[in-house]
Amino acid sequence: MDYKEKIDPAKLPQHIAIIMDGNGRWAQNRGQVRVFGHQNGVESVRQTATAAAELGIKYLTLYAFSTENWKRPKIEVDALMNLLVSSLSSELGTLMDNNIRLRAIGDVSHLDQECYSQLQETIGLTSGNTRMELILALNYSGKWDIATAARKIAEDAVTGKINTDDISQELFGTYLDTKDFPDPELLIRTSGEYRISNFLIWQMAYSELYFTPVLWPDFRKADLYEAIYDFQQRERRFGMISEQIKPADDK
Ligand code: FPP
Repeated sequence: MDYKEKIDPAKLPQHIAIIMDGNGRWAQNRGQVRVFGHQNGVESVRQTATAAAELGIKYLTLYAFSTENWKRPKIEVDALMNLLVSSLSSELGTLMDNNIRLRAIGDVSHLDQECYSQLQETIGLTSGNTRMELILALNYSGKWDIATAARKIAEDAVTGKINTDDISQELFGTYLDTKDFPDPELLIRTSGEYRISNFLIWQMAYSELYFTPVLWPDFRKADLYEAIYDFQQRERRFGMISEQIKPADDK
């Protein structure tokens, strides 16, 4: 089925977040080392980012490296860092051609120096782009984000910059690393795993979750269209009942 044709442009999610999973299994299924899967995942990133920008999605967040991923064998961590450096450099043309602005969330200052520098350079070079923001979650985890926000709030309360009475959900959100972006309406996870894996745990309070068995290196534009079409069939009630959220003439 051609899901692109069926997507309602008036009901697009503003922000899609993706857990790109299954690279290792994709490689192992082919008798290759895990890094081969990550390398092939770059084409999926390119296809997904361009498809999202073409559709009119405003924010796309990709979970590229979690705080827990440091526990992987050093050879894989090093290969992932090298792949990020080379991809950020080789994909600059794709970002510019598609008017995509690169952003990052996570404790990026603790990435390898080369990776950090390349990231900052690409962020700077794309800072004038306006069609879509591609947000890479790098050395990111949801618990890290929440704990860091709590520490900054405590510091501001101690110095008198804020009153403890001011601490609300809205204020808390402004201390998170995602403060510049709306919460994702749709989370996609590939590879048939049904977990959140410490991703945007605060921000996904009301996200629609979409799980697909497709392994990340096989994920293509058509898979994104299918996920968005599926999202558009859902009724998002935000704690209310069906009758409260339907337009009056539908009741
Ligand atoms: C999860 O698959 C994937 C990752 C930890 C890394 C994702 C990185 C890329 C796609 C590389 C390029 C990224 C950018 C933004 C240029 P897994 O290794 O956990 O797979 P498995 O569950 O099959 O082992």
